[in-house]
Parts: sequence; C-alpha cells; structure tokens
Amino acid sequence: MKKIIIANWKMNDSDCAEKLVQNHEKWVKKNCNIMIAPPYIYLEKMHQLFQGSQFGLCAQNCSQFEGNGAYTGEISAQMLKNLGVDSVIIGHSERRQYYDETNEICRMKLYNAVNADICAVYCIGESLETKQRNQTISFLNQQIGDVFTNFLYKRARIIIAYEPIWAIGSGLTPTFNDINQIHTKIKDIMNMYLPNQPVAVLYGGSVNGKNAPDIMATPNVDGVLVGGASLLYDNFTQIIQST
Ligand code: PGA
Repeated sequence: MKKIIIANWKMNDSDCAEKLVQNHEKWVKKNCNIMIAPPYIYLEKMHQLFQGSQFGLCAQNCSQFEGNGAYTGEISAQMLKNLGVDSVIIGHSERRQYYDETNEICRMKLYNAVNADICAVYCIGESLETKQRNQTISFLNQQIGDVFTNFLYKRARIIIAYEPIWAIGSGLTPTFNDINQIHTKIKDIMNMYLPNQPVAVLYGGSVNGKNAPDIMATPNVDGVLVGGASLLYDNFTQIIQST
C-alpha cells in the first residue's frame, strides 16, 4: 500500500506547495500519496495549483454543523467538498485544547465529512500525564469509541492519525516499538467498529527528515502527519524521500 504523507501547515504560510508542483515530476514516482493541509484561505488557490498534479488537498478543520446556517466563522464540510478538498483533519489536539473540541464535536464533524464524501483524518493521542499513568490505550479507546460507536456508514473513507500530544512540536517521539504496538492496537479497535474495512493509521508528532525513514519502516505505520517539518520544501521532501 502507498504511504500517506499529510502536511499540516497549521496557521502558517509556506511556499512548499508551489515548489512541490514545480518539481512534481520528481515526486510523482515516489511510493506515496502526498496531501497538503494549508489554512482555509489558501485552499482555492491550491486547488488550482494542484490541477493535473498528484497532490491532494486537505482542510485542517470543518464545522460540526451541516448545510448552510447562522454559524459565524464556520465552514461546512460540503463547502470544502465544493472547493475541491478531498480530506479533512478532525480532532487535532490543538483544536481540542484551544477550542474545547470534545469527542462528541469530533463525531459530528466526522459524520459531516463522510456525508460530503470527504476522507476524514481523525486525530487521537494521549497527554504526557496519561502516558505516565499507563492509560494510553484506554484513552485512545475512548477517543475512538465516542466517535465510532454505532457508526452508520459502511463505506466511509477514514484515516486515523495517532499523535501523542507530548510529541507534537517537542522534538520527542515514542520508540518505534511503542508506535508499532499502539498502531496495532488502534487497528484492532477500529476493526471492531468498522469490520472488514482496513483503516490507515498515520503517526504524527515531531516527524522530520532524520526520523522519517525509521518511522515509515515501522510495522503498522501507513504514513505520517507532519507539522513543522512540512513548511520548508527541503525538510518536507526529505520525508517524502523516505518512502
Ligand atoms: P509537528 O506537528 O510535526 O510539528 O510535531 C504535528 C501535528 O501537529 O500534526
């Protein structure tokens, strides 16, 4: 299976997308699907930029509300779809932390994404405190269960991104063995909720050009979600090279 690499620009500018497109011949041969998640306002421009290239467009968020309505500042999953967006990040820990997104809100967002035929990239991950209490698996189980219990859809496009909060932007990463074990567990749990539908599990948190080859080669890692190292072309393409 092709590895998936998602660049999460967060609230940052970057010229990485232009440079990727300029050099797309070089990257088209790589064994991976590359998606870029820029701030909302760049999505339309990047959709045009990506026409005819192999790069996918991802949004960083969508509204928990459906259709049109009086929700100032919000953007619906259907609006993203109409703009040419193919996937959306849901439940990133920064949104959980700064915007009080609960599992229930994530569930609503995920349903909206699926209804709009957008691939939902659902982020889960434990805090350092939870890890130190040896409660990582039960915490992840809850984050998944709250969203996927009685899941209505048989053919939804779902990706799980495992991002330990303590690894995001910190330069710290779990051991490769831990990543393998946790991803195996996540796949088991997802198989309970979505039987017979293999779900890709990405790792995220301080992925860079140096650790990417080992992370990519870790069993049960289907790709990576990259923050800081996705902003500069040289750093990001080092990660692509590792596939
Ligand atoms: P980082 O961020 O790669 O800068 O640690 C990852 C993320 O938050 O998705």
